[in-house]
Amino acid sequence: MEYGIRRWSSIFKGDMGMGQVRNKDIILLLRQTLKSVDRLLMDHGSRTAYILYKMLQEEGKLEIYELADYAVFATFHDIGAYRTEELEDMLNFETKSFMPHSIYGYLFFKKWSPFTAEDKILLYHHANCEQYDKINYAFKNIASYLFLADRMDIYYITQGSSFDIYSLRKYEGTRYTKEALDLLEKADRKTNILEKLANETYQTELDQLLDYLVISNEDEEKYIHMIVNSMRFRDQRYTVDTAVCMCICEEIATKMYLTEKQKEILKYAALIHDIGMLLLPQEMINAPRKLTSDEMMTLETHVEMLEPIFRKILPGDIVDVAITHHENGAGSGYPKRIKAMDMNTSQRILQVADMVTSLSSKRTYRDAKDSKEIETILQEGVKANRLSPEVVSVLLQNYDIIMAKAKKEKEQLIGTYAALEKEYEQSSGTYL
Ligand SMILES: [Fe+2]
Ligand SMILES: [Fe+2]
Ligand SMILES: [Fe+2]
Repeated sequence: MEYGIRRWSSIFKGDMGMGQVRNKDIILLLRQTLKSVDRLLMDHGSRTAYILYKMLQEEGKLEIYELADYAVFATFHDIGAYRTEELEDMLNFETKSFMPHSIYGYLFFKKWSPFTAEDKILLYHHANCEQYDKINYAFKNIASYLFLADRMDIYYITQGSSFDIYSLRKYEGTRYTKEALDLLEKADRKTNILEKLANETYQTELDQLLDYLVISNEDEEKYIHMIVNSMRFRDQRYTVDTAVCMCICEEIATKMYLTEKQKEILKYAALIHDIGMLLLPQEMINAPRKLTSDEMMTLETHVEMLEPIFRKILPGDIVDVAITHHENGAGSGYPKRIKAMDMNTSQRILQVADMVTSLSSKRTYRDAKDSKEIETILQEGVKANRLSPEVVSVLLQNYDIIMAKAKKEKEQLIGTYAALEKEYEQSSGTYL
């Protein structure tokens, strides 16, 4: 393959015989996380991915799992804009001032994505023909196809299905390469692309392509990092809290000898449990005061708001754990007020881990609690039947070790992010 993406060295996910989460689920989760921050930009990513997929399919050089890889790549091609742009100015950053999000997206992919060889495609996804001629890069063809696919969707957004694909030919050799234009026209003769975009059947086809995705265990971890780090586009707090909560869950699960399957369920439940928070008005969440009862009701919706979507993406037992993280054994939690006897061990671990994550971090309306205060709160919770005595006892027996690990995780995340920001500030505008 001329430019096939693959890292064949690792063991494929699923080969371990406990493949709870399918390869494509991880991608759908990342897409849902970013959609929760901004839907329009994510939809643009999906349409662009579809157009690129059709072009590459026409070219006929790649195997289907490689087409799936590029579809994933293209879906998130504008990920940098979530950090660098006012997202409602999409036309501006996609057609005029496109360097900031191209650079940030490249750096984000370089740090966290599995696409380490292909990451620079993002850097060049808005380069014109004159710039391409100067670039010496193995994947520059793909960058030129991606540019055209991207631009075609921008025309679709502004002009609708009446847009004439063949009118782009006038930019041959200046904006778009002949090769890219040939592929787009050939693909369009076979599949009416604009019609697919308009009736949204492109999404089904794209999701079916993801069935062919091959993700190694190592890549899975990278995608999880991408999901966690994407939450930061709404607020750094979600990235840090999710990572800390996942870490505490994992530590307790190990100490309680949960099976590998249970651990995987718990890991994904902890990953998704607060994604619904990204959909809420952040001014309300960050208000430096206690919330009113109406606001509390709004806040509580974060648990179930995405449940129907998660149920379509993930195995049910993961969602079942995620949506009970604010329940408590006494039946006074939310949203369903379920009791201890109806909660399994994973649910009770996530409940405690989420609580400790929250108590140990600073909020706009209160300081972080110290370990003594947290211990008292946990013990009161056990006495009142709200928390699992086993889970709390395992946590308290190992409190310092577990929290030190969580702290290290947190510091690593913040450190990597600070390095990324620094690199971005220093490099602005210098790549093209
Ligand atoms: Fe872009
Ligand atoms: Fe784009
Ligand atoms: Fe929550």
